[in-house]
Amino acid sequence: MAIAATEPTAVRAFGPGTALSCRECGERYELSPIFACGFCFGPLEVAYDFGNVSREEIESGPKNIWRYRSLLPVPDNVAELPNMNPGLTPLVRADRLAAELGLSSLHVKDDSGNPTHSFKDRVVAIAVEAARTFGFTTLSCSSTGNLAGAVGAAAARAGFESCVFIPAGLEEGKVVMAAVYGGKVVAIDGNYDDVNRFCSELIGDPAGESWGFTNVNLRPYYAEGSKTLAYEIAEQLGWRLPDQIVIPIASGSQLTKIDKGFQELIKVGLVEDRPYKVFGAQATGCSPVAKAWENGHDVIQPVKPDTIAKSLAIGNPADGPYVLDIAQRTGGSIEHVGDDEIVDAIKLLARTEGIFAETAGGVTTGVLRKLVREGKLDTEAETVIVNTGDGLKTLNAVDAGVTATIKPSLKAFTEAGLA
Ligand SMILES: Cc1ncc(COP(=O)(O)O)c(C=O)c1O
Ligand SMILES: [Zn+2]
Repeated sequence: MAIAATEPTAVRAFGPGTALSCRECGERYELSPIFACGFCFGPLEVAYDFGNVSREEIESGPKNIWRYRSLLPVPDNVAELPNMNPGLTPLVRADRLAAELGLSSLHVKDDSGNPTHSFKDRVVAIAVEAARTFGFTTLSCSSTGNLAGAVGAAAARAGFESCVFIPAGLEEGKVVMAAVYGGKVVAIDGNYDDVNRFCSELIGDPAGESWGFTNVNLRPYYAEGSKTLAYEIAEQLGWRLPDQIVIPIASGSQLTKIDKGFQELIKVGLVEDRPYKVFGAQATGCSPVAKAWENGHDVIQPVKPDTIAKSLAIGNPADGPYVLDIAQRTGGSIEHVGDDEIVDAIKLLARTEGIFAETAGGVTTGVLRKLVREGKLDTEAETVIVNTGDGLKTLNAVDAGVTATIKPSLKAFTEAGLA
């Protein structure tokens, strides 16, 4: 139901969240499980009335995303509820990678250490609380892999049924990780965009209408979880925004919400208002946003994905136009790298910083290298890249293996030239 912009609608279950607001026309709605504007079909996002938020209050909070609960649409007692409690992952000072690339200051926000080894635990954590509030008993999603695992685990922890949908042919690590928690995992014969379309149909059908789809009917809440990456990066830099940041893009939600997080920190006075540049990273085999950027278009031409970076393989990215706006507004850009460069970049990050990224992290690191090579990054500026997932889930992408197999003797060791 649409509501007047001035009507007070504060609902304690959503903390500082006051309404859903259309990104296109600004129409406001009650906080409910809806995701598109009834007037213009634009996407809805959570609007807030932030109270006083202090650094001290955050710093004395839990060592997970709930330290930022006064900036999130979650209940005040969220830290006491059964949830995976992701976040506060390391911001690694990457001096060796910086030296190799010729950068003076580089950090990797390494989100591979979340409970199910990707940043998706952040978004699902918020969606679970919304699902609980709305009384859903089954959690679902359309996923390129990581989200399915995050939903399966969070459902198990919080006592929901789960049924997740993935494209057929995903990496074994992603499938096992989704299935092990005991929920249903359904592979759809098609790509992610087919899966997503199917889920939208299912929501309108009695079979799925009472389900909480984290990234469909709970999307306005779910998406807010990515803001916590921005909050953490700023806090870990000593309450400062970085000068430039490189973020991978699938639907583009994460990139838009990291920007929203930075903007909110400025608004509530937790960081100084200074310019920062946002760069987006895609795989060449699924680069609709990078192609639109290259061609100066403001609409995205959907593509059929063909890349080893399966977690980023969304051919019709919902937030693509907003990503273009952010790159434009901040003075960043959107770039892409091919599969060989992705593999090479996974190895580069592992060799220099001891971080084993999944293919999405290879995309981000590869794009960082490309941006430096092409003179599009300021090599003197403070740079952050976001590693969103763990290499153990995409083992087949890299050809790393034993150096040699030998008999257990010193003689064999020496003869193999290993001494
Ligand atoms: C590891 C990883 N990184 C990045 C993304 C991109 O997320 P978004 O759809 O928010 O752009 C995904 C999406 O599935 C992912 O699994
Ligand atoms: Zn609208």
